[in-house]
Amino acid sequence: MASGAEPVLAVEAIHTAYGLSRVLFGVSFRVAAGECVCLLGRNGVGKTTTMRSIMGLTPPASGRIVWKGRDITGAAPFRVAALGIGFVPEDRRIFGDLTVWENLDVAARRTRPGGFTAERVFELFPALRGLRDRQGGFLSGGEQQMLTVARTLMGNPELLLLDEPSEGLAPLVVHHLREQIGRLKADGLTILLAEQNVDFSLNLADRVYVLEKGRVCYEGTSREFREDESIRQQYLAL
Ligand SMILES: Nc1ncnc2c1ncn2[C@@H]1O[C@H](COP(=O)(O)OP(=O)(O)OP(=O)(O)O)[C@@H](O)[C@H]1O
Ligand SMILES: [Mg+2]
Repeated sequence: MASGAEPVLAVEAIHTAYGLSRVLFGVSFRVAAGECVCLLGRNGVGKTTTMRSIMGLTPPASGRIVWKGRDITGAAPFRVAALGIGFVPEDRRIFGDLTVWENLDVAARRTRPGGFTAERVFELFPALRGLRDRQGGFLSGGEQQMLTVARTLMGNPELLLLDEPSEGLAPLVVHHLREQIGRLKADGLTILLAEQNVDFSLNLADRVYVLEKGRVCYEGTSREFREDESIRQQYLAL
């Protein structure tokens, strides 16, 4: 983040646990308006837990989450969404027996005001337009991922949390997805991405934070990260 830029999202030293199992140990990072920031890390380091903490799905035990100057720590998930944070979870929760169109329409019903309509979503994801009458359950993995992102956009978020969007997708599909997310970014959307896929992330992100065992162990621009071979080897085993 350019020094002096006011962050839209500030995560400040959060500690999060599932019952007695402590997962995050003082995670802090910032996201500025219009930025794409990536949380990188291997399996189980706490990427999803960080996103769940922001959304209020697993509120942190201590620390603060500040969204546009407002403390939202522990706010209910629907409130966080209503304040403009959209979450695309890693398990692609679409309605399998509803059509693509119906999935979008359901999402639009609990929306905050804004510019996203099904028409705009179809412009961003042209492949979905041709599938509008197909049931969600019959879509491919890549199409389901697109629909999951599209459905979240229908809620008019200002910040999009994308949890491992590339996971389990074929390389060509990942390539398309990256282009589409890049277009959302060019459109002005602020994005927080959680990923293990370094190449996918570095092509999209302005800055990266590497997580290891529930702590931030590296922070830098994508360019700095790309040039630092030792960080890749140490924390991402590449
Ligand atoms: N509901 C839960 N109850 C108890 N422990 C959990 C729960 N969800 C996750 N954990 C544990 O918390 C730790 C961090 O998990 P998390 O899902 O945040 O990691 P992650 O970085 O998203 O991993 P992945 O890349 O596999 O998605 C792991 O040790 C995991 O086993
Ligand atoms: Mg995860």
